[in-house]
Amino acid sequence: MKRISWVACLFVAACESGPDGPTSYEDMNFAQRYEFMSEVVLPQMQETFVRFDAKYESMTCATCHGEGASDGSFAMPSPQLPLLPASEEAFFEYLEEDPEHLRWSNFMAEEVWPDMAELLEVPVYDPKAAPTGFSCSNCHMHEGQL
Ligand code: HEC
Ligand code: HEC
Repeated sequence: MKRISWVACLFVAACESGPDGPTSYEDMNFAQRYEFMSEVVLPQMQETFVRFDAKYESMTCATCHGEGASDGSFAMPSPQLPLLPASEEAFFEYLEEDPEHLRWSNFMAEEVWPDMAELLEVPVYDPKAAPTGFSCSNCHMHEGQL
């Protein structure tokens, strides 16, 4: 029995996740990601966003994916989300310009960013420990990037 399951593992991509198939976002195929987004991500992120502003009761896939939700690509980052400043200096200026920029950015940094990384089970961006980790730039594009 042991030997058979070991052999089977060579042919099943995500063996550690058990017989129900892959469970972590990175191992999912497109259809599984679609289902996971619909059943887990949208409802949970909607709760997070509604705590910040009740208008997100009507949050949909397009709130994050923009046109990717209607053309079916769901490609991220989304060019329809607000563009973020391209440099650290420009970002600090942006924060000082308007208290709303600061309020939004704090909500993003304290809730949206870590919550989303946790849902996707991916490491949170850190310049040293996880330079390719999940960050603002997985959702938002930066000025000059389009
Ligand atoms: C809170 C923002 C948010 C919402 C709401 C959201 N998504 Fe996503 N979705 C993402 C992010 C971020 C990624 C990409 C993760 C990564 O790989 O960096 C993603 C990836 C995907 C992918 C995989 C794309 C690929 O290239 O593999 C699909 C499919 C998808 N989303 C479908 C949906 C659907 C359907 C809904 C609505 C039911 C939805 N998403 C709602 C943020 C969101
Ligand atoms: C999971 C995807 C996601 C991540 C990660 C994310 N954001 Fe956002 N961000 C959004 C969505 C969705 C909105 C609201 C768009 C809307 O209501 O049209 C938004 C709005 C904003 C706004 C408001 C801009 C405006 O002009 O209204 C700012 C500022 C912002 N994000 C900054 C950041 C920063 C800084 C980070 C990283 C710390 C970040 N975001 C991470 C999805 C994301």
